Amino acid sequence: METAARKQPSGIGIVGIGSFVPEGLLTNADLEKIVDTTDEWIKERTGISKRHRVDEKTATSDLAKEAAKRAIADAGLTPEDIDVIIVGTATPDMFFPSTGCLVQKEIGATRAVAFDISAACSGFLYGLSLAEHFIKAGTYKYILVIGAETLTKIVDWTDRTTCVLFGDGAGAAVVGEVGPGRGFIASLLRSDGSLGDLLEMPAGGSRMPPSEETLKKRLHCIKMEGNKLFKAAVKAMASAGASVLADSGYTSDELDLLVPHQANLRIIDSTAARLKLPAEKVLINIAEYGNTSAASIPIALEEAKRGGLIRPGMLIEMVSFGGGLTWACTLMRW
Ligand code: ACO
Repeated sequence: METAARKQPSGIGIVGIGSFVPEGLLTNADLEKIVDTTDEWIKERTGISKRHRVDEKTATSDLAKEAAKRAIADAGLTPEDIDVIIVGTATPDMFFPSTGCLVQKEIGATRAVAFDISAACSGFLYGLSLAEHFIKAGTYKYILVIGAETLTKIVDWTDRTTCVLFGDGAGAAVVGEVGPGRGFIASLLRSDGSLGDLLEMPAGGSRMPPSEETLKKRLHCIKMEGNKLFKAAVKAMASAGASVLADSGYTSDELDLLVPHQANLRIIDSTAARLKLPAEKVLINIAEYGNTSAASIPIALEEAKRGGLIRPGMLIEMVSFGGGLTWACTLMRW
């Protein structure tokens, strides 16, 4: 079979990375006291042991700004160097101002253009792709991409099928020029709005403004059809991962690391099996954090870098799937 000509890295990539999770922990044992569930069920069906949880006063921008400051410091830059702030989040502090603008104010990125993107768990990878294009076009030099969530604020604590899954946290990356032979190689972004009702927070917007009834029916909480999403997630992440590799002229054997969105251990295992990747090439930290949506990939990436698992020259593929539906994949040479 003829393989595609090998695509070279763009020279634009991640120049700094940071993450932040709140200190508060919610263990499976804690959840056993809230809903009819067991540590055994949660671990076996999801791979999750605990998740970090914010206190009542903390909002998404509070986590985002800490991750942002760490990413900017890691890049050896100052907030004034940042041209654009893009925040991927499904749990903004409020509808407006955007969480991006709130972060801009908090970190003093006075020159930056700031905005949010709504792509649920794919928000970070959507943001990286936008950043790459802005820089490639010569419009901007340094772009801060953040994935940040406080999902425990929109969880229905009476619904055992969802409340055990989600956690809070933030991850951030500064995108800029990394030099020849390194950086992003290819990205794929996809959406399928026809399946949007599989994962939604139905009320609070213009379709169903807040009312006593929406509150009573818990329509300001996550509603999810887990089974259908599970199948869609494996199919979408595996095919996106495979096609980005093939279209770029690489094979899965050459991949050093897969960084998948951490939604469910079984989804990650099935995706890795379809991509024929051995366990040691797959980054998994869901046991500690649960599903942190847009934050899960940058948190995992930062943790891996800090732990020495990521070294210069490695071929890394990131793949996500979430509400919208949205999914995305980015291949890069670190
Ligand atoms: N504890 C104990 N039992 C439970 C729990 C729980 N926490 N939750 C569900 N069950 C029960 C169900 O009620 C059901 O019981 P029944 O057979 O008597 O009806 C049984 O367990 C099996 O339920 P399933 O829903 O079939 O369980 P499944 O193995 O599919 O696991 C899960 C559920 C974990 C939600 C899984 O479907 C999943 O991870 N789905 C994908 C989630 C996802 O990827 N979301 C999208 C990305 S996240 C984002 O975009 C923000």
